[in-house]
Amino acid sequence: MTESGYRVHILPGAVDAIGGVARVVVRAHRYAIVTDSNVGPLYAERARAAMTGLATEVFTIPAGEAHKTRQTWAAVTDQMLEAGFGRDSAVIALGGGVVCDLGGFVAATFMRGIPVVHVPTTLLAMLDAAIGGKTAVDTPAGKNLVGAFHQPSAVIIDPSVLSTLPADEMRAGLSEAIKHGVIADPAHFAAVAAFGAALRDHHQNPRATSAIVARSVEIKSAVVASDTRESGRRKILNFGHTIGHAVEHLSGYRVLHGEAVAIGMCLEAALAERIGVAVPGTADRVRAACEGAGLPTARPAGIEPQAIVALARGDKKGRAGRAQYALPTRIGEMAFGDRGWSAPVDDALVLETLR
Ligand SMILES: NC(=O)c1ccc[n+]([C@@H]2O[C@H](COP(=O)([O-])OP(=O)(O)OC[C@H]3O[C@@H](n4cnc5c(N)ncnc54)[C@H](O)[C@@H]3O)[C@@H](O)[C@H]2O)c1
Ligand SMILES: [Zn+2]
Repeated sequence: MTESGYRVHILPGAVDAIGGVARVVVRAHRYAIVTDSNVGPLYAERARAAMTGLATEVFTIPAGEAHKTRQTWAAVTDQMLEAGFGRDSAVIALGGGVVCDLGGFVAATFMRGIPVVHVPTTLLAMLDAAIGGKTAVDTPAGKNLVGAFHQPSAVIIDPSVLSTLPADEMRAGLSEAIKHGVIADPAHFAAVAAFGAALRDHHQNPRATSAIVARSVEIKSAVVASDTRESGRRKILNFGHTIGHAVEHLSGYRVLHGEAVAIGMCLEAALAERIGVAVPGTADRVRAACEGAGLPTARPAGIEPQAIVALARGDKKGRAGRAQYALPTRIGEMAFGDRGWSAPVDDALVLETLR
């Protein structure tokens, strides 16, 4: 049970149990499984079969961040209305972070809000996107600019579905687990680093994956519960993201979010050392963990420091035109607790670090 009051079920094979959970936590008359064009063919039929005795329809959106839009939101809500879904229905979001965010936003807005159960199918969605109640779509002006806070009624995590996830997507998710270790727990940091190195050498082990996901879920839920509207402590989850978001955007989204966050964490940890906030060696440890998992650690050639700094300043989390950074003091502990958990850093210092 998370502090926000919903249960997170983590169990290999859990997809086959979603009907039982949905029946207990939501008790809707009709269920809309929202999924995407990659996950649907793999798991939607199994998920629907697991909704025994419950009226369930599947709504499939095109896969990919490019479709996390108001247009897709409109298409899904229109299809639900046409199919006669009403106030007494619920959404089951079956997919990666795109489906969790979009399906969650559909649930937050349909008939002014219906329940959502998340069934995340990427590592990133399991330990990050499905947890915390943030939902959103992108607009031409940027990512996640239109959305709502809407807590799920339950989160059902089946680590065995990761067997079909492409290796680069698996690595990208691991980057957020490394982040959870840095911001809150040195033991988790070490476990994720070992897991990442093992993942690189051979195949995954659902038991080990469950353990990593479970601890990351605990960390993220605890941080979110301490700050449900992102006024303070939740900012520590932005570690690696001020620079990371800029890199992701400047690459034209060719660099995956998790890869960009790995680069961002390495550079922001170096920045923390440079300004005397972090103990020496912190950045090296972050870099070693990312490298071990096969994640990139340096600014991609062709993405200029000036462009990163300019974009970071314009980030929607920036205040008064200066980029805010959430920085570690050491592995497992974050700085600026007395200042709302983030602080502005002079562009000149960031530029030096980026070079
Ligand atoms: N709400 C939050 O708090 C939060 C947190 C982090 C990220 N996000 C959002 O999450 C999104 C990124 O999520 P993502 O990385 O999961 O991307 P994604 O949903 O696009 O999934 C990545 C790819 O993997 C495919 N896929 C998913 N599960 C699969 C499986 N089991 N087997 C085979 N293929 C599978 C998808 O179809 C897609 O092509 C971004 O939009 C980001 O903004 C939200
Ligand atoms: Zn992230």
